[in-house]
Amino acid sequence: RLEAVIFDLDGVITDTAEYHYLAWKRLAEELGLAFDRALNEQLKGIGRKESLEIILQANGKTAAEAEKEEWIARKNRYYLELLEQLTPAAVAPGVLALLQELKAHGIKIALASASKNAPLVLEKLQLTRYFDVIVDAGAVKKGKPDPEIFLTAAEQLQVHGGNCLGIEDAAAGIAAIKAAGMVAVGVGDKATLPAADLVVKTMNELNLSKLQACFTGVR
Ligand code: BG6
Ligand code: MG
Repeated sequence: RLEAVIFDLDGVITDTAEYHYLAWKRLAEELGLAFDRALNEQLKGIGRKESLEIILQANGKTAAEAEKEEWIARKNRYYLELLEQLTPAAVAPGVLALLQELKAHGIKIALASASKNAPLVLEKLQLTRYFDVIVDAGAVKKGKPDPEIFLTAAEQLQVHGGNCLGIEDAAAGIAAIKAAGMVAVGVGDKATLPAADLVVKTMNELNLSKLQACFTGVR
């Protein structure tokens, strides 16, 4: 039985995935590093430190630890600047209705985002109160595609992983959900998310009965 839905944040609940892209792009330009949307696709769902490593590696560059720390902090400042424009109007179409429908039917709701800015983003979107659990990204040892963050969400919700469904926009996130033994719904392009049990183009296409049907089809 479907008992809980575990949401990714960036690129699912709101389009902050675009803000992450713009912030990395700004940093990369300043550092004279190549960075495009194809490379950005690999950063989705990945923590800040690892993201920088991927950009450096793609450019055949290495750097001292202190330098890397400064760059990560700078990228985060750029990201926070972009977050200043974030209001409840930026909640992706369909998300609020889905959260309300899940709540009304007693389905538990959790957030499993790799972002340390996730609590701030939820506050700005005025969505915090819908979440029974918000996993602390700083406390997760192994990032997506490792299942740890989704397993932690299920544990904190006190729901068996087999009764959870996860929603993600990143390939690493879908892999994490599947590795956790959960049903995976992808938001975006079917070609980028081949491992998902269901892929929708936008959150607007989802409602409880669609999630139930997907869940029952897999289980
Ligand atoms: C994920 C994003 O949700 O969070 C990544 O998809 C981002 O792009 C990661 O790097 C970490 O976010 P933050 O806000 O802690 O730098
Ligand atoms: Mg995401």
